Amino acid sequence: MAHDHFIELLDLDAEVLHDYHHDLITWVGREAADHPRVVDLGAGSGTGSLALARELPGARVTAVDVSPEMLAHVRSGAESAGLTDRIGTVEADLDQPWPDFGPVDVIWAAASMHHMADPARALASAHAALSPGGLLVIAELDSFPRFLTGTADEAVEQLVHEEAAKRRHEAGLHMHENWGDRITQAGFTAVTERRFDIDLQPPLPPAANRYAEVSLFRSRHMLEDRLSPSDLAAVEKVVAELPARTDLSIRTERTVWLARR
Ligand SMILES: C[S@@+](CC[C@H](N)C(=O)[O-])C[C@H]1O[C@@H](n2cnc3c(N)ncnc32)[C@H](O)[C@@H]1O
Repeated sequence: MAHDHFIELLDLDAEVLHDYHHDLITWVGREAADHPRVVDLGAGSGTGSLALARELPGARVTAVDVSPEMLAHVRSGAESAGLTDRIGTVEADLDQPWPDFGPVDVIWAAASMHHMADPARALASAHAALSPGGLLVIAELDSFPRFLTGTADEAVEQLVHEEAAKRRHEAGLHMHENWGDRITQAGFTAVTERRFDIDLQPPLPPAANRYAEVSLFRSRHMLEDRLSPSDLAAVEKVVAELPARTDLSIRTERTVWLARR
Protein backbone atom coordinates (compact mmCIF):
# COMPACT_ATOMS: atom_id res chain seq x y z
CA MET A 1 0.00 0.00 0.00
CA ALA A 2 1.38 3.33 -1.03
CA HIS A 3 2.47 5.22 2.04
CA ASP A 4 1.30 8.53 0.59
CA HIS A 5 -2.32 7.36 0.71
CA PHE A 6 -1.92 6.77 4.44
CA ILE A 7 -0.52 10.28 4.86
CA GLU A 8 -3.37 11.67 2.78
CA LEU A 9 -5.88 9.68 4.83
CA LEU A 10 -4.57 11.09 8.11
CA ASP A 11 -4.60 14.63 6.74
CA LEU A 12 -8.16 14.17 5.45
CA ASP A 13 -9.30 12.86 8.84
CA ALA A 14 -8.15 16.11 10.44
CA GLU A 15 -9.69 18.24 7.69
CA VAL A 16 -13.06 16.51 7.40
CA LEU A 17 -13.54 15.84 11.12
CA HIS A 18 -12.41 19.35 11.93
CA ASP A 19 -15.02 19.99 14.62
CA TYR A 20 -14.04 16.89 16.58
CA HIS A 21 -10.33 17.72 16.35
CA HIS A 22 -11.02 21.32 17.35
CA ASP A 23 -13.12 20.28 20.38
CA LEU A 24 -10.39 17.91 21.46
CA ILE A 25 -7.51 20.36 21.12
CA THR A 26 -9.52 23.06 22.91
CA TRP A 27 -10.16 20.67 25.80
CA VAL A 28 -6.47 19.76 26.01
CA GLY A 29 -5.54 23.44 25.80
CA ARG A 30 -7.63 24.14 28.91
CA GLU A 31 -5.85 21.38 30.82
CA ALA A 32 -2.27 21.92 29.68
CA ALA A 33 0.30 24.10 31.43
CA ASP A 34 1.46 27.32 29.76
CA HIS A 35 4.31 26.90 27.27
CA PRO A 36 4.09 23.11 27.50
CA ARG A 37 6.73 20.75 26.20
CA VAL A 38 4.70 18.24 24.24
CA VAL A 39 5.57 14.81 22.85
CA ASP A 40 3.31 13.52 20.07
CA LEU A 41 3.61 9.73 20.07
CA GLY A 42 3.05 8.10 16.68
CA ALA A 43 2.66 11.54 15.15
CA GLY A 44 1.85 10.23 11.66
CA SER A 45 1.40 13.03 9.13
CA GLY A 46 1.63 15.59 11.94
CA THR A 47 -1.92 16.93 12.16
CA GLY A 48 -1.80 16.63 15.96
CA SER A 49 1.65 18.23 16.24
CA LEU A 50 0.57 21.17 14.10
CA ALA A 51 -2.68 21.66 16.01
CA LEU A 52 -0.89 21.45 19.36
CA ALA A 53 1.74 23.99 18.30
CA ARG A 54 -0.95 26.32 16.96
CA GLU A 55 -3.47 26.02 19.80
CA LEU A 56 -1.32 25.70 22.90
CA PRO A 57 0.42 29.04 23.44
CA GLY A 58 4.17 28.68 23.38
CA ALA A 59 4.05 24.87 23.05
CA ARG A 60 7.15 23.09 21.80
CA VAL A 61 6.25 19.80 20.17
CA THR A 62 8.39 16.75 19.52
CA ALA A 63 6.77 14.52 16.90
CA VAL A 64 7.84 10.90 17.32
CA ASP A 65 7.26 8.18 14.77
CA VAL A 66 8.90 5.01 13.54
CA SER A 67 8.36 6.11 9.94
CA PRO A 68 10.85 8.53 8.36
CA GLU A 69 8.32 9.31 5.58
CA MET A 70 5.78 10.44 8.16
CA LEU A 71 8.36 12.60 9.91
CA ALA A 72 9.44 14.20 6.63
CA HIS A 73 5.78 15.15 6.08
CA VAL A 74 5.60 16.57 9.62
CA ARG A 75 8.67 18.71 8.91
CA SER A 76 7.30 20.02 5.62
CA GLY A 77 3.97 20.81 7.32
CA ALA A 78 5.81 22.66 10.09
CA GLU A 79 7.77 24.60 7.49
CA SER A 80 4.64 25.61 5.55
CA ALA A 81 3.00 26.72 8.79
CA GLY A 82 6.06 28.70 9.90
CA LEU A 83 6.40 26.51 12.97
CA THR A 84 9.83 24.94 12.52
CA ASP A 85 11.05 26.67 15.69
CA ARG A 86 8.35 24.91 17.73
CA ILE A 87 8.00 21.47 16.09
CA GLY A 88 10.87 18.98 16.02
CA THR A 89 10.91 15.32 15.00
CA VAL A 90 12.46 12.21 16.50
CA GLU A 91 12.53 8.90 14.67
CA ALA A 92 12.02 6.11 17.19
CA ASP A 93 10.37 2.73 17.56
CA LEU A 94 8.23 3.14 20.67
CA ASP A 95 8.17 -0.63 21.17
CA GLN A 96 11.84 -0.27 22.13
CA PRO A 97 13.19 1.63 25.14
CA TRP A 98 12.21 5.27 24.58
CA PRO A 99 14.73 8.00 23.86
CA ASP A 100 15.18 10.68 26.51
CA PHE A 101 12.79 13.47 25.52
CA GLY A 102 13.92 15.77 28.34
CA PRO A 103 11.20 17.33 30.55
CA VAL A 104 7.71 16.63 29.16
CA ASP A 105 4.47 18.37 30.23
CA VAL A 106 2.05 16.75 27.75
CA ILE A 107 2.10 13.36 26.06
CA TRP A 108 -0.35 13.17 23.17
CA ALA A 109 -1.11 9.81 21.56
CA ALA A 110 -3.80 9.95 18.86
CA ALA A 111 -4.71 6.66 17.18
CA SER A 112 -1.25 5.38 18.03
CA MET A 113 -1.52 3.50 21.33
CA HIS A 114 -3.32 0.64 19.62
CA HIS A 115 -0.17 0.11 17.52
CA MET A 116 2.04 -0.50 20.55
CA ALA A 117 3.12 -4.13 20.87
CA ASP A 118 2.85 -3.97 24.67
CA PRO A 119 0.43 -1.21 25.78
CA ALA A 120 1.29 -1.65 29.48
CA ARG A 121 4.98 -1.12 28.75
CA ALA A 122 4.20 1.91 26.56
CA LEU A 123 2.09 3.46 29.32
CA ALA A 124 4.83 2.79 31.89
CA SER A 125 7.26 4.57 29.56
CA ALA A 126 4.81 7.48 29.19
CA HIS A 127 4.49 7.71 32.97
CA ALA A 128 8.27 7.74 33.37
CA ALA A 129 8.71 10.34 30.62
CA LEU A 130 6.16 12.84 31.98
CA SER A 131 7.05 15.40 34.60
CA PRO A 132 5.01 15.20 37.85
CA GLY A 133 1.56 16.72 37.22
CA GLY A 134 2.03 16.26 33.46
CA LEU A 135 -0.89 15.49 31.20
CA LEU A 136 -1.45 12.29 29.23
CA VAL A 137 -3.88 12.41 26.30
CA ILE A 138 -4.93 9.23 24.54
CA ALA A 139 -7.38 9.47 21.64
CA GLU A 140 -8.58 6.23 20.11
CA LEU A 141 -11.05 5.09 17.47
CA ASP A 142 -13.99 2.99 18.60
CA SER A 143 -14.96 2.60 14.97
CA PHE A 144 -13.48 3.53 11.62
CA PRO A 145 -15.52 6.02 9.58
CA ARG A 146 -18.58 4.72 7.72
CA PHE A 147 -19.75 6.75 4.75
CA LEU A 148 -22.58 4.74 3.24
CA THR A 149 -25.03 4.23 6.11
CA GLY A 150 -28.61 4.11 4.84
CA THR A 151 -27.59 3.78 1.19
CA ALA A 152 -27.87 0.78 -1.12
CA ASP A 153 -24.13 0.18 -0.64
CA GLU A 154 -24.20 -0.04 3.14
CA ALA A 155 -23.74 -3.83 3.11
CA VAL A 156 -20.59 -3.61 0.98
CA GLU A 157 -19.08 -1.13 3.40
CA GLN A 158 -20.15 -3.26 6.35
CA LEU A 159 -18.40 -6.30 4.87
CA VAL A 160 -15.21 -4.29 4.38
CA HIS A 161 -15.32 -3.12 8.00
CA GLU A 162 -15.89 -6.62 9.36
CA GLU A 163 -13.00 -8.10 7.39
CA ALA A 164 -10.69 -5.18 8.18
CA ALA A 165 -11.48 -5.60 11.90
CA LYS A 166 -10.55 -9.31 11.70
CA ARG A 167 -7.34 -8.42 9.93
CA ARG A 168 -6.38 -5.83 12.57
CA HIS A 169 -7.11 -8.34 15.31
CA GLU A 170 -4.90 -10.96 13.64
CA ALA A 171 -2.15 -8.33 13.23
CA GLY A 172 -2.18 -7.87 17.03
CA LEU A 173 -3.47 -4.29 17.07
CA HIS A 174 -4.98 -3.27 20.39
CA MET A 175 -8.30 -1.87 19.25
CA HIS A 176 -11.09 -1.58 21.86
CA GLU A 177 -8.76 -1.76 24.86
CA ASN A 178 -10.04 -0.35 28.11
CA TRP A 179 -7.50 2.46 28.11
CA GLY A 180 -9.02 4.02 31.23
CA ASP A 181 -8.19 0.91 33.25
CA ARG A 182 -4.79 0.56 31.67
CA ILE A 183 -3.92 4.21 32.37
CA THR A 184 -4.94 3.81 36.02
CA GLN A 185 -2.92 0.61 36.33
CA ALA A 186 0.12 2.47 34.97
CA GLY A 187 -0.10 4.86 37.95
CA PHE A 188 -1.86 7.86 36.38
CA THR A 189 -4.51 9.73 38.36
CA ALA A 190 -7.51 11.98 37.61
CA VAL A 191 -8.45 9.88 34.60
CA THR A 192 -11.23 11.51 32.56
CA GLU A 193 -12.96 9.82 29.65
CA ARG A 194 -14.97 11.54 26.94
CA ARG A 195 -16.70 9.93 24.00
CA PHE A 196 -17.24 11.75 20.71
CA ASP A 197 -20.07 10.46 18.51
CA ILE A 198 -19.44 11.95 15.11
CA ASP A 199 -22.38 12.01 12.70
CA LEU A 200 -21.97 14.31 9.70
CA GLN A 201 -24.87 14.44 7.26
CA PRO A 202 -24.99 15.52 3.60
CA PRO A 203 -24.27 17.82 1.97
CA LEU A 204 -20.61 17.32 2.82
CA PRO A 205 -17.60 19.13 1.30
CA PRO A 206 -15.60 17.49 -1.53
CA ALA A 207 -12.85 16.52 0.94
CA ALA A 208 -15.37 14.11 2.51
CA ASN A 209 -15.78 12.31 -0.84
CA ARG A 210 -12.02 12.04 -1.14
CA TYR A 211 -11.79 10.80 2.45
CA ALA A 212 -14.34 8.08 1.68
CA GLU A 213 -12.55 7.16 -1.53
CA VAL A 214 -9.10 6.88 0.05
CA SER A 215 -10.51 4.94 3.04
CA LEU A 216 -12.29 2.37 0.93
CA PHE A 217 -9.52 2.18 -1.66
CA ARG A 218 -6.97 1.36 1.04
CA SER A 219 -9.29 -1.22 2.60
CA ARG A 220 -9.84 -2.85 -0.78
CA HIS A 221 -6.08 -3.33 -1.19
CA MET A 222 -5.60 -4.43 2.39
CA LEU A 223 -8.28 -7.09 1.93
CA GLU A 224 -7.20 -8.31 -1.50
CA ASP A 225 -6.42 -11.80 -0.21
CA ARG A 226 -9.53 -12.02 1.99
CA LEU A 227 -12.47 -11.00 -0.16
CA SER A 228 -13.93 -13.08 -2.98
CA PRO A 229 -13.48 -11.78 -6.55
CA SER A 230 -17.15 -10.75 -6.63
CA ASP A 231 -16.88 -8.89 -3.31
CA LEU A 232 -13.71 -7.14 -4.52
CA ALA A 233 -15.51 -6.12 -7.71
CA ALA A 234 -18.42 -4.77 -5.65
CA VAL A 235 -16.02 -2.69 -3.50
CA GLU A 236 -14.24 -1.39 -6.60
CA LYS A 237 -17.55 -0.29 -8.12
CA VAL A 238 -18.44 1.61 -4.94
CA VAL A 239 -14.97 3.22 -4.80
CA ALA A 240 -15.24 4.35 -8.43
CA GLU A 241 -18.58 6.05 -7.76
CA LEU A 242 -17.57 7.80 -4.53
CA PRO A 243 -16.16 11.06 -5.98
CA ALA A 244 -19.50 12.05 -7.55
CA ARG A 245 -21.85 10.97 -4.77
CA THR A 246 -23.96 13.49 -2.90
CA ASP A 247 -25.48 11.08 -0.35
CA LEU A 248 -22.41 10.36 1.78
CA SER A 249 -22.54 10.75 5.53
CA ILE A 250 -19.78 10.17 8.09
CA ARG A 251 -20.24 8.20 11.25
CA THR A 252 -17.39 7.37 13.57
CA GLU A 253 -16.91 7.17 17.30
CA ARG A 254 -13.80 8.27 19.16
CA THR A 255 -12.94 8.10 22.85
CA VAL A 256 -10.38 10.32 24.53
CA TRP A 257 -8.79 9.88 27.95
CA LEU A 258 -6.98 12.60 29.88
CA ALA A 259 -4.94 11.74 32.94
CA ARG A 260 -2.27 13.19 35.21
CA ARG A 261 1.02 11.79 36.21
C1 LIG B 1 -2.97 5.67 12.77
S1 LIG B 1 -1.51 6.60 12.70
C2 LIG B 1 -1.94 7.99 13.69
C3 LIG B 1 -1.17 9.20 13.33
C4 LIG B 1 -1.52 10.48 14.07
N1 LIG B 1 -1.29 10.40 15.49
C5 LIG B 1 -2.94 10.91 13.79
O1 LIG B 1 -3.76 10.94 14.72
O2 LIG B 1 -3.25 11.23 12.64
C6 LIG B 1 -0.40 5.69 13.74
C7 LIG B 1 1.06 6.16 13.65
O3 LIG B 1 1.82 5.45 14.65
C8 LIG B 1 3.07 5.12 14.10
N2 LIG B 1 3.60 3.96 14.81
C9 LIG B 1 3.10 2.70 14.80
N3 LIG B 1 3.86 1.90 15.57
C10 LIG B 1 4.86 2.67 16.06
C11 LIG B 1 5.97 2.40 16.91
N4 LIG B 1 6.21 1.19 17.40
N5 LIG B 1 6.80 3.42 17.22
C12 LIG B 1 6.59 4.66 16.73
N6 LIG B 1 5.55 4.97 15.93
C13 LIG B 1 4.69 3.98 15.59
C14 LIG B 1 2.77 4.85 12.63
O4 LIG B 1 3.95 4.98 11.82
C15 LIG B 1 1.71 5.89 12.32
O5 LIG B 1 2.28 7.07 11.83
